[in-house]
Amino acid sequence: MVLAALLLVVLLTCVPYLVSIALAEGPATADASPIFGVTIPAGYKQWELIAPAEEAAPLDELRAVVGNQVAIDAYQAGKLPFPDGTILVKRAWKRKQSPEFASATIPGAATTVQVMVKDSRRYASTGGWGFAHFQDGKPSADETFMKTCFPCHNQVKARDLVFTLYAP
Ligand code: HEC
Repeated sequence: MVLAALLLVVLLTCVPYLVSIALAEGPATADASPIFGVTIPAGYKQWELIAPAEEAAPLDELRAVVGNQVAIDAYQAGKLPFPDGTILVKRAWKRKQSPEFASATIPGAATTVQVMVKDSRRYASTGGWGFAHFQDGKPSADETFMKTCFPCHNQVKARDLVFTLYAP
């Protein structure tokens, strides 16, 4: 009886510990992008603006590229390649006509959030960048789609695969 109770105590203390190890070091979770295992960075809605952009039909979106502090520091110093730890996020919204002012366009519903994370060793085969694509907070692109990110971004290899320039 005592032994059984002791075993139970040992089990109860071990299980949460083992679960936390599995979660921290386990394979990509449901919240991470296929291939790259990139998740939505915490607090990106508070990050600094690098530049806005517009996308014509059929997507017809308003966009804003923002970056973490490592990204902003690199932009300000004109540093290339971007250092490891750089994270760039592209936010996007449907275009909406302002209800108050006909000529004004404002953000409608949020559409996608795209992320690029610099880790030159982990993502060596894709120019040092890991990619992710989210919709409603969940990764929403399959492997085939995720394989399109690198070849297109690689067109601007001279700018370390980053299209967006700092808005003047
Ligand atoms: C056909 C070309 C193309 C493909 C494919 C593409 N992108 Fe981009 N991406 C761009 C362009 C052009 C920009 C510049 C901003 C804009 O036009 O919205 C951009 C901007 C970005 C940015 C902001 C940093 C930067 O480089 O300007 C991120 C983050 C991003 N894309 C992520 C992705 C992810 C993730 C995928 C794959 C799911 C992807 N992109 C696929 C062309 C592409």
